[in-house]
Amino acid sequence: MTTIGFIGGGNMAQAIIAGLVKGGQSAKRLTVSDPNEASRQQVKTLGVTAIEDNARVMADAEFIVLAVKPQVMGTVLDTLKPHVKGHHRFISIAAGITLTRLKEGLGLTDQTVIRAMPNTPALIGQGMTALTTSKELSDADQTTVEALFNACGQTVWVADEEAIDAVTAVSGSGPAYFFLMVEHMIRSATRLGLPMDIATQLVMQTAKGAAAMVEQSDVRPDVLRSRVTSPGGTTAAALKVFEEGAFDDLVDRALIAARDRATELAKDAG
Ligand SMILES: NC(=O)c1ccc[n+]([C@@H]2O[C@H](COP(=O)([O-])OP(=O)(O)OC[C@H]3O[C@@H](n4cnc5c(N)ncnc54)[C@H](OP(=O)(O)O)[C@@H]3O)[C@@H](O)[C@H]2O)c1
Repeated sequence: MTTIGFIGGGNMAQAIIAGLVKGGQSAKRLTVSDPNEASRQQVKTLGVTAIEDNARVMADAEFIVLAVKPQVMGTVLDTLKPHVKGHHRFISIAAGITLTRLKEGLGLTDQTVIRAMPNTPALIGQGMTALTTSKELSDADQTTVEALFNACGQTVWVADEEAIDAVTAVSGSGPAYFFLMVEHMIRSATRLGLPMDIATQLVMQTAKGAAAMVEQSDVRPDVLRSRVTSPGGTTAAALKVFEEGAFDDLVDRALIAARDRATELAKDAG
């Protein structure tokens, strides 16, 4: 029976655990260690054992999810290292901590290490997680790892860690780009005279509707866009302003900046 231990029981671990339990995973197969009393209490409300002792979680579990902040990862790896056994498989969700760093820190030779890059909507079950692995997984292990992150959204495998930096720029930081767009549209709508509550509802439902159309449609977003853009119409007038402001170039530059920063941070942490 697969057992999963979480080192760190904060926001992200709780999001994954809540999804797993909701999806029918037995809470008995999960354990969490966290020094923070409040985090442990929150984990316990999900019916899962939460203790202070990382070593005990290591002793009980096959899969170990490293769900601590990147700043404390070095210390955590040091404390886990003496308890590593041959059957352990490690999954780290910490931003910027490389597979090499994880393997070195845990003193691993042959065990599997997986790096995951989830995003904030995982907290409401709508996450997007990209995964990469240090070595090929068995089918059973792959299913277990995917199930962990499917419990709080969707998962995708990428070829290597270079791709993880690109993923960080797209889906990792991506929610903030959409928050920014929503924020500015609401502000503009109020400047056009609409009350805040109505502006917010209009923008939010439009964002949801547009995302659902992109997801459900069998044509590309540019085709959807051209279908709602009559020549000389209102949408065309707005899109012309975006184009004059080199919106596409701006998006390109923003994502490149995020990708480069992810690479830099990984180097600093590694
Ligand atoms: N939140 C996101 O949207 C998001 C997205 C992508 C990736 N991530 C990654 O997910 C990881 C966790 O993020 P989070 O938002 O869940 O952080 P969090 O809420 O701060 O949770 C981390 C938990 O680990 C505990 N902890 C500290 N030292 C520990 C130790 N030695 N052993 C065991 N537990 C320890 C912390 O306790 P204290 O509070 O007492 O320190 C805290 O309860 C981070 O590495 C982050 O990069 C998060």
